[in-house]
Amino acid sequence: ACQSSSDKQRRFPDDFLFGAATAAYQIEGGWNEDGKGESIWDYVVHNNPAYIKDLSNGDIAADSYHNYKRDVEIMRELNLNAYRFSIAWSRVLPTGMINNVNQAGIDFYNNYIDEMLKYNITPLITLYHWDLPQKLHELGGFTNPLFADWFSDYARLVFQSFGDRVKHFITFNEPREICYEGYGTDTKPPIVNNTAIGTYLCAKHLVIAHAKAYHMYDKEFRPTQGGQCGITISVNWFGPDTDSDDDKLAAEITRQGEWGIYAHPIFSAEGGFPKELSERVAKKSAEQGYSKSRMPEFTEEEKALVRGASDFFGVNHYSASLTSATEHKVPHPVPSLMDDIDSGTYTPDEWPKSSSSWLTFAPNSLYNALTHLNTRYNKPVFYITENGWSTSNDRGLIDDDRIAYYRAALENVLDLLDDGVNLKGYMAWSLFDNFEWNAGYTERLGLYNVDFEDPARTRTAKKSAFVYKHIVTHRYIDHDYEPEAMIMTID
Ligand code: NOJ
Repeated sequence: ACQSSSDKQRRFPDDFLFGAATAAYQIEGGWNEDGKGESIWDYVVHNNPAYIKDLSNGDIAADSYHNYKRDVEIMRELNLNAYRFSIAWSRVLPTGMINNVNQAGIDFYNNYIDEMLKYNITPLITLYHWDLPQKLHELGGFTNPLFADWFSDYARLVFQSFGDRVKHFITFNEPREICYEGYGTDTKPPIVNNTAIGTYLCAKHLVIAHAKAYHMYDKEFRPTQGGQCGITISVNWFGPDTDSDDDKLAAEITRQGEWGIYAHPIFSAEGGFPKELSERVAKKSAEQGYSKSRMPEFTEEEKALVRGASDFFGVNHYSASLTSATEHKVPHPVPSLMDDIDSGTYTPDEWPKSSSSWLTFAPNSLYNALTHLNTRYNKPVFYITENGWSTSNDRGLIDDDRIAYYRAALENVLDLLDDGVNLKGYMAWSLFDNFEWNAGYTERLGLYNVDFEDPARTRTAKKSAFVYKHIVTHRYIDHDYEPEAMIMTID
């Protein structure tokens, strides 16, 4: 009644999963409590504190290990019907290996899940959100071909422990950030920085580990549990700077290097690494004196194992850049993924900036990315497993730029639904402010503010929380909606 055109409003389906996402290391704290083992993040923040911008760490973070009931209360305040969180591998398996299960860790996640289920909130579990057990890193982590076996053992424990109640599993969060940032550069733990082959070697072992866990779920658990298992890939949009063929090819090769090397083996009809980039790496490797390509091959058997091994395509999407074959190039180590891609990218000045250097408000980037994936990979089921906007830590509770970003992104979601894209859910990043990795607590992405000075880690709704709640509750976007008073309640 108060919305005269409400019957003309485009609506989100009632069964659409509308939620928010977090990750273990960013929210839990309790880094060594009740038997939890050390992860590569624990190791780096304790041994090299200057690696984090504000010298902070996730030892306590938002203290969700002790505040999980308040977390679920926030989900209820927002009327969410879904919540995506991750399991800390070293909380349930302190050394990473299956011989030593930490029951206290299993109990913590059981309590978290059961609290959600009490209120009909659908849990989505990410098995790996960057916190590799340090002991496994000491054996080479993702570069060790046995990685897939270690991951399978862990995955089986997760499916066995939680799969009676949890029906959505995501094996890996953001292979690009795991492999390129963690192994191909020094920008994320474990800081391997092997620019020549780190990214490619990790990529191959990661998709094989994903596929083995997927097939295990399919055979051993799906018949009784009836859930789904997929993967989440970070897909930012890279369009050509001009209409020239060279820029179009530069954009394609950039997409292949940024996310095609993870998506193609799983979601393309032909499998394996993407063609144009593989050919380029093979050629450069020969020129550089290698005896074979720095990009490993998949055997036919491996290709078949990985191809089609996912029930859905989870997309984390934030931003976009324009790609040029000749302009905006910056120096890169030789050899490296970026040198192999050999393009320049930039964001136009008129695109609004967030507090994170990598995140600008690019027009229709979510629509462009998903439309491309939908065509390229033959219409998979999609979930947006993350999307959001960062502000600085002195910005308080009025976050109109975040509101504008979410409204635009959600209009794109409606456009995609209109087009018939099989998009089944959307998770905002993030439920509340948390440890933003290398940026520590200087960049905030939460719908709720967290007071990190306060031992209780009090959570307070930002203006964007009220707007998101309105959209989730009414299933349409009212661009004129303004919260009357910033007092959050459970309806
Ligand atoms: C993606 C990552 O999965 C998440 O951990 C991170 O906080 C957000 N992007 C924002 O940077």
